[in-house]
Amino acid sequence: MRTRRSLIDLSDLAAGEIDEIFERTKYFESTRPSRSLEDVACVNMFFEHSTRTMTSFTLAEQRLGANVITIWPSQSSLAKGETIEDTAITLGAMGIQVLVIRHPEDGFPARVALAFDGHVVNAGDGTHAHPTQALLDLYTLREEFGELNGRTVAIVGDVEHSRVARSSVHGLQALGADVVLVGPAGFLASDFMPGKARIERDFDAVLRVADAVVVLRIQRERFATMPLSNDEYVARYQLNGKRLKTMRPHAIVMHPGPYNRGVEIDESVLEFAGWRYAKQVMHGVGIRMAVLDFLVNRDRAVAR
Ligand code: CP
Repeated sequence: MRTRRSLIDLSDLAAGEIDEIFERTKYFESTRPSRSLEDVACVNMFFEHSTRTMTSFTLAEQRLGANVITIWPSQSSLAKGETIEDTAITLGAMGIQVLVIRHPEDGFPARVALAFDGHVVNAGDGTHAHPTQALLDLYTLREEFGELNGRTVAIVGDVEHSRVARSSVHGLQALGADVVLVGPAGFLASDFMPGKARIERDFDAVLRVADAVVVLRIQRERFATMPLSNDEYVARYQLNGKRLKTMRPHAIVMHPGPYNRGVEIDESVLEFAGWRYAKQVMHGVGIRMAVLDFLVNRDRAVAR
């Protein structure tokens, strides 16, 4: 019987487990590298481009003392017709215990988790989920505000194609925040995640009340035609110097990256005192250490 846990989306974690991961993150960020994955082999397989997630998972694994292997999908036996399930079985037979997977197809990591006798960590699948990005975003918000109860977090832009938005809405709701999604109809249908978040079209109105604004990139790789002109998008939804001045004095701005200057943000955002992008990236390593340690070592403690 398979007993090992995977992390496919944030809904796989109870609120208390998110707190446990945050405690581990705090510990890993404040101590020297740990060896808690010393006898563990991890494989990273990224079928889509990545800078932040791939680098931080690699650093996290190295800092925990794991054996780290990168498989480039185009150079693997997948190119010779092997299925991903058979690849997973093969890696498991070699003693690989952790598979970190990014893929453009929704549900791909969950499929692999069914075949793999180890832990699968979803590093982003299509428009479905990006749980470790959501965790590091929640951690950044908790560090800023403490409890999120009563805080208003706005997620702005191409919400429809954003796996980060989907995972973050689950997590923000679980931690008690008031979530507002903002964007044009072409990037945010009125029935998007009903019952989970409010939908607004007027970015300027939301900016005046939000405690935190998460700005999203337009995911041009996921659709064929822009639903509105670039100029219209910039006029209605770009966060710029003029709009920053209308925000509450304590409000912060976040972005999962990569950001596109001149599109969803202008240069003044990068100089804004409340810009928290670097903190998000920094926490990405600690969060991924905590998730790996949580999945592998909690599982080992239960199996003992
Ligand atoms: N935020 C994020 O997933 O960035 P990468 O695509 O660079 O990993």
